[in-house]
Amino acid sequence: MRTLVTGGAGFIGSHLTDLLIEKGHDVVVVDNLSRGRTENLAAAQATGKCTFVEADILELDFDAFLAEHRPEVIFHLAAQIDVRYSVEDPIHDA
Ligand SMILES: NC(=O)c1ccc[n+]([C@@H]2O[C@H](COP(=O)([O-])OP(=O)(O)OC[C@H]3O[C@@H](n4cnc5c(N)ncnc54)[C@H](O)[C@@H]3O)[C@@H](O)[C@H]2O)c1
Repeated sequence: MRTLVTGGAGFIGSHLTDLLIEKGHDVVVVDNLSRGRTENLAAAQATGKCTFVEADILELDFDAFLAEHRPEVIFHLAAQIDVRYSVEDPIHDA
C-alpha cells in the first residue's frame, strides 16, 4: 500500500515509517525538519521504499502533492509539540 506519513522524521513518525516498511508498504514522508532528523529515517531510506520530502505542510500545495504521490492512507503526525512554545505563541499553533 502507498502511505504518507506527515512528521515522519520525528519520534513517532519515524518509528511508524520503519514499521510500515517492515510490513511491506511504501512510505512517503513529508517533514519540515523543525524538530525531526533525517537520521531517524536512515534505515527506512536504505530499503529504497521510503521517499523523503522536506516541506512544511502549511505551505505545501497539498492537492498537487497528493496527485503526485497518490497515497492510499495518510498518517498525520506533523505538529508543533512544545507546550511551552504553545503557551508563548498560541496563535502560531492555531
Ligand atoms: N510523543 C508522545 O508521547 C506523544 C503522545 C501523544 C500524542 N503525540 C502526538 O503525536 C504527534 C507526533 O509527536 P512526536 O512525539 O513524534 O513529535 P516530534 O516533534 O518528534 O515529531 C513531529 C514532527 O513533525 C514535524 N513538523 C512539525 N511541524 C511541521 C510542519 N508544519 N510541516 C511539516 N513537518 C512538521 C517536526 O519536524 C517533527 O519531525 C504530535 O501530534 C504529538 O502531539 C505524541
